[in-house]
Amino acid sequence: MFSATIVLVLTLFLSSGNCAPSQQSCTVNSLSAFETANGPVEVDTNPLHAFESPKIPAINSTTSEYWYFDSVSTDGTAGAAITFFRDPVLAYLGQGNLRVMTEAVWSNGTRFSDTVFVEDSCITVCGGETTGVWSSPSKNTDFTFKISKDSKTVDIAVSSPLVTGTFRLTSNTPARYPHGETFPSRDASVALAPEFWWNEPIPSGTAHVSLRLGDTPFEIESGVGGHERNYGSGDYVVLAKSWSWMRFAAGPYTMVLWSWTSAIDGLYYPSAFLAKNDKVIFTATHSVEHPTEKFVVLREVLGPPGVHGTFGNDSPGWDVFLVDPKSLTQYYFSEQHKNIMFEAPHGQPDEYTRFVGTVTFTAPDQTFMKGVSIGEQSFIRPTK
Ligand SMILES: *[C@@H]1O[C@H](CO)[C@@H](O)[C@H](O)[C@H]1NC(C)=O
Ligand SMILES: *[C@@H]1O[C@H](CO)[C@@H](O)[C@H](O)[C@H]1NC(C)=O
Repeated sequence: MFSATIVLVLTLFLSSGNCAPSQQSCTVNSLSAFETANGPVEVDTNPLHAFESPKIPAINSTTSEYWYFDSVSTDGTAGAAITFFRDPVLAYLGQGNLRVMTEAVWSNGTRFSDTVFVEDSCITVCGGETTGVWSSPSKNTDFTFKISKDSKTVDIAVSSPLVTGTFRLTSNTPARYPHGETFPSRDASVALAPEFWWNEPIPSGTAHVSLRLGDTPFEIESGVGGHERNYGSGDYVVLAKSWSWMRFAAGPYTMVLWSWTSAIDGLYYPSAFLAKNDKVIFTATHSVEHPTEKFVVLREVLGPPGVHGTFGNDSPGWDVFLVDPKSLTQYYFSEQHKNIMFEAPHGQPDEYTRFVGTVTFTAPDQTFMKGVSIGEQSFIRPTK
C-alpha cells in the first residue's frame, strides 16, 4: 500500500500530456510499455472499488487486464469491438505490454482487424469519471475512453493511422458481478473462476459507432453494445481449457453468459445473467448438475449449416436455456451466427472466434422476441 502511494505521487510529478490530472483530487495510474514488475503483484479484488479502476496497477510478466467494448448492428450482421490491453502475452514481439485492438465486420462479411502497440497507458479518475489513454506519440496514435462515474456512458475517441473516429455506449442495464449481484455489493465476488476476475459495467446498451477503418467508413447507428472488464494472474491460455461468452439483447431483455472451463482445477464455471430493462430477473452459476438450483444450459446447435468458426466445430449457433426448477420457469434463447467479427490466426494455442448474429427469445409466458448477439468461442489447444 505504502509503495503504491509513492508510485502514485511520483507519477503525478513525472507525467505529462494526457496523463496530467486537471485537479489535485484525481488519481493517476500510468504504465509504460516495458514496465514489468518481478514476481507476484497486487490484484485489487475489492468488490466495492470502482469497476473501471485499474485492478492490476503494476503488471508482471504473466498478469493481464483489459477494458473491452463491443457493438452489433440492429440486424446482427455488422459489429465492432475495441479492447485496451495491459497484457504481456505478446511481449515476445518486442513491442511491450500495451496495445489496442480494433476489430470489425461489415454486413457483407468483410473483416477488419488492427492491433496497435503503444508506449504509454494512463488511467485518470477525477470525480468518479475514468479516462484511459493509450498513446504512442511516435505512431501518431491516441486511443481514449471516458466513462462516467455510474458507468452509464462510454465515449471512445480514436486517432491512429488506420483507425479513427468515435465509439459510444449508453447503458440500459445495471453494472454487475460474475454471480449476478449488481454494483455496489459488499458481499459480491469479482472472481469468475480460479485466478480470473471479471466485472461487467455494461451488460448491454445502445451503441453509436462512427469509424474509419483503413479507407472504409464503418457505421453503427443505435445498435447494441456492452462493456466488460477482465483481469487475471495469467493469460487465458494458462487459465482456461475452453470458454464461450455471449451477449444477447432482444427487446427489453439482456442476457450475458460466460461459460468457462478452468485449466487450473478443471471445473466448469458458468455465469448466466438475465435482465429485463434495468431489473435483474435471473442469474445462475450452475449447470444442470444442481437441478434444485437455478441453472443454465448452453448447447452448440448442430445444424443446419451456417456461419461457423474454422476451429473446433461447425456449429452455426447456440441454444441457451435458463431454468428455475423451483418456479418451473424457463427462458430460452436461440442464437444464429451471422458473421465472424474476428478469428485468431491458426497455429496458436488459442482457437478463438467472435461472432455477431441474431437471437430469438422465448419467455416463460411464451412471449417471443427477436434480437441480436455478440459471442465468442474458444478452445485452448494443449501445448504439450
Ligand atoms: C504475477 O502476479 C500474479 C498475481 O499476484 C501472480 O499470481 C503470478 O504468479 C505473478 N507472475 C509471476 C511470473 O511472478
Ligand atoms: C463489403 O463492404 C465494405 C464496406 O462497404 C466494402 O469496402 C467492401 O469492399 C465490401 N466487400 C465486398 C467483398 O464486397
